[in-house]
Amino acid sequence: MPNSKEKYTVLATKNAEALLGGGQDRIDAQHKKGKLSARERIDFLLDEGSFEEIGKFVMHRTRDFGMDKQHFLGDGVVTGYGTINGRLIYVFSQDFTVFGGSLSEAYAEKICKIMDLAMKNGAPIIGLNDSGGARIQEGVVSLAGYADIFYKNTQASGVIPQISAIMGPCAGGAVYSPAITDFIMMVENTSYMFVTGPNVVKTVTHEDVTSEELGGASTHSTKSGVTHFSCANEIECINNLKKLLSYLPQNCEDNAPMEDYEEKTGAGESLPSLDSIIPENPNQPYDMREVIETVVDKDSFFEVHKNFAENIVVGFARLAGRSIGIVGNQPAVLAGVLDINSSTKAARFVRFCDSFNIPLLVLEDVPGFLPGTDQEWHGIITNGAKLLYAFCEATVPRITVITRKAYGGAYDVMNSKHIGADMNYAWPTAEIAVMGAKGAAEIIFKAEISSAENPTEKLNEKVEEYDRKFANPYRAAYRGYIDEVIMPNETRQKLIRAFKMLENKVVVAPRKKHGNIPL
Ligand code: HXC
Repeated sequence: MPNSKEKYTVLATKNAEALLGGGQDRIDAQHKKGKLSARERIDFLLDEGSFEEIGKFVMHRTRDFGMDKQHFLGDGVVTGYGTINGRLIYVFSQDFTVFGGSLSEAYAEKICKIMDLAMKNGAPIIGLNDSGGARIQEGVVSLAGYADIFYKNTQASGVIPQISAIMGPCAGGAVYSPAITDFIMMVENTSYMFVTGPNVVKTVTHEDVTSEELGGASTHSTKSGVTHFSCANEIECINNLKKLLSYLPQNCEDNAPMEDYEEKTGAGESLPSLDSIIPENPNQPYDMREVIETVVDKDSFFEVHKNFAENIVVGFARLAGRSIGIVGNQPAVLAGVLDINSSTKAARFVRFCDSFNIPLLVLEDVPGFLPGTDQEWHGIITNGAKLLYAFCEATVPRITVITRKAYGGAYDVMNSKHIGADMNYAWPTAEIAVMGAKGAAEIIFKAEISSAENPTEKLNEKVEEYDRKFANPYRAAYRGYIDEVIMPNETRQKLIRAFKMLENKVVVAPRKKHGNIPL
């Protein structure tokens, strides 16, 4: 008879290990699909040897629902904590080898337990998703488990960063937990997300569509905007998770870590290449990413939502070692116009940065909002207001640099001083006015132009006059709406100093339960 210590040892090693996960055959099947196992993913994600598993011996209760053959320990999810680059992180990793990673009562309890720990201890939580959805045998108990997680996701929102990686199926209501989290990453060709799958779609709408077309990484990173990152494989996805975390604080009371940096140019941070970046012709595009990459610390720009609504660029970067969030209009796509998708993309990013004390830099070159029935009928009013609202309520340090166009309502919306920005700079090439010169001249000089001997010549003359008188940064600077007109080459130095000056900024917001952002 083994004594009790021996019994314990047997349970903790041989039997337990044998019962953890769905076995080697199923792990091999994962590998054949180009997927890692739940535990391998954790190994790649966390610092070596740092993982502490919680709930290893939790037994599923699916046997209570007539499934008494399988007795997997830990159920279909591996949960625990560890470190990434020495910083505490909580993680759950869904195990497709156990009941297809489907979510049961015990499984949901394990996730909720580490979410509670993450919130109490103020550290980010990462969910690695690979699941067939609600465990069919457990019925409503499984649905209840999902709802418990959704509720905790919402409680944790704005308290700790929550990041979801989709590394396999994620279907039905299961999609709503990742959707509530702050960032979603998807792996190309091996993951998908949809509310109803291809078979249901076929029955209801008679559309023939594959899982990949309906809800693969490419679809969600370009068409729907559901995912923020599309990754070539799981390793790239895990590396992106680590990189993203490096820009974030641990929780809403913390600041993002500062990194060491070297002076960028060795010439007092001067960047002469920026002086010639704006084309002579104001209607010619240039790439705002080039401006961003020139201004920020070397190789520090990490773009978010890269392939969605490309007329606006958002992402994290470092400026003199400080983590910042960047929103830049992109003149190279649709002339940088604001539309529904770019407004919602940027609004969500601004709100994330504001929740987690990440200062905001706006690089502005925007001709206005996109006209047309499509935009009006799909709600550019409500959706444009999201971006306006997000900037208005943000209390983090906020700086804008107007590189070229700042026309109409878009001037107000893009982090103007009027809606609470701390500093607004303009390059000498800035055009700040109600509308572009030609449209404006045609309206205000209408009579003069139509009665002229040569109306075209008169129009050109008036356009030139309007440009000179109105479409420049100085009228705004005379009023103090622009704090300084700066040479492009000075931009980095000005921004470094201004963000340093703003680092102890405090804003006392009016007392309220919460605002009502136009959703
Ligand atoms: C229980 C499940 C399961 C589930 C898969 N399995 N999904 N067990 N509940 N939801 C089991 C299978 O029986 C199988 O067990 C093993 O997992 C692997 O599944 P396969 O079908 O062999 O794998 P594959 O061919 O790769 O297909 C994966 C799949 C498919 C596409 C995910 O299994 C599937 O369609 N599952 C059902 C998905 C679904 O409809 N879920 C409910 C969605 S609604 P064995 O022992 O045979 O290997 C939902 C509501 C949530 O989730 C609501 C929240 C509010």
